[in-house]
Amino acid sequence: MKTVTCTAPVNIAVIKYWGKRDTGLILPTNDSLSVTLSQDILHSKTTISAAKEYSHDRLWLNGKEEDITKNKRMHNCFRETRALRQQLEQDAAQRGETLEPLSSYHVHVCSENNFPTAAGLASSASGLAALVFTLAKLFDLTNNMSELSRIARQGSGSACRSLFGGFVAWEMGSKDDGSDSLAVQVAPETHWPELEALICVVSDEKKGTSSTEGMQHTVNTSPLLQHRIKEVVPVRMAEMKKAIHERDFQTFAALTMKDSNQFHAVCLDTYPPIFYLNDTSRAIMKIVHEYNATSPDGKLKAAYTYDAGPNAVIYAPKENMREIIQLIAHYFPGSADNYFVDPYKLFTSTQDLVSDFKPAGHAAFNENSIPVFPAGSVSRLLHTKTDDGPRVLGQEESLLNEQGLPK
Ligand code: DP6
Repeated sequence: MKTVTCTAPVNIAVIKYWGKRDTGLILPTNDSLSVTLSQDILHSKTTISAAKEYSHDRLWLNGKEEDITKNKRMHNCFRETRALRQQLEQDAAQRGETLEPLSSYHVHVCSENNFPTAAGLASSASGLAALVFTLAKLFDLTNNMSELSRIARQGSGSACRSLFGGFVAWEMGSKDDGSDSLAVQVAPETHWPELEALICVVSDEKKGTSSTEGMQHTVNTSPLLQHRIKEVVPVRMAEMKKAIHERDFQTFAALTMKDSNQFHAVCLDTYPPIFYLNDTSRAIMKIVHEYNATSPDGKLKAAYTYDAGPNAVIYAPKENMREIIQLIAHYFPGSADNYFVDPYKLFTSTQDLVSDFKPAGHAAFNENSIPVFPAGSVSRLLHTKTDDGPRVLGQEESLLNEQGLPK
């Protein structure tokens, strides 16, 4: 039996992917670009074991056994990685060497997120990236990350970007077979370590439209999406890459907010419309703009972005984070003990956090621009930063026991 355990990170796009030109191969209608967030805060962890004794492939997701045969996207990832392993085994045989025939063994997969799925945080990207990366390690594949990203893409589009740390572009490609639709690293996490993120988990009981379903309604009905694909994204991709290379937070922040807004505009332009933002999400947008208006030199201090749900992700330089956390905690107070756990030790006590936010000397700050929201409107604040790509863990971290069953 061979067993490997790995983790993969969450990524949050600053130029959004929304729309497929091929739903089977998961080929997008535009390029996208994301920031990889620290696995110390959020990750998917996956253990995979392969053994000739196993009678069939089995999968446990967040503690519950699932029928692997019903998951076409995961099946694509197994098929592709097994084919690459089989090639390695054949090549070895031709050289007169023997590789364990892992490609013909069944596998047991156990995967869990270190964050509650109920929090509505994107888990498909980290989950599918962890699956493909762990399979690649299990099979000793020699392919580079971009080649693996082509496989992860077929599990979930945004997963291809979670195979790299730092700043990652998913190049849409133009070929029908998808061979040139893959992720590339724009800059590693070490390039801009001051860039941090605050995830505001916005409570929302309602079940929204899934990304997969929503984006095809947009492709089929939104004329604004066509303008976005042809005119807007190509220009923004070039500007965003330049901003990242130059660590230019002004351009990065403005583009991030505009692109999030346009993504939600194409959702509204979808017929019937799709709504992902709620009143709390919109109030966070307003407060970020109000906060930026306090900047004495007119420079942006923070940028928000929203995926297919109401949670806000605020990107900002490290130096502004303390102030931003106080600002959000003031207007959107928590109601639970785990509201904010302060992983980077910015505050000496919770008293610091709840003390009224007063942007010192900033006359421009309109304290009444929004009301203080009811406690719990934002249920958690997760402080994180840009960080590395998937990690291989030691055997002691395995989620499977010696029989290949969940521990
Ligand atoms: C709004 O990658 O979840 O987060 O490819 O159908 O699995 P599928 O969709 P998914 O879509 C993510 C959309 C987004 C924007 C982004 O991450 O770029």
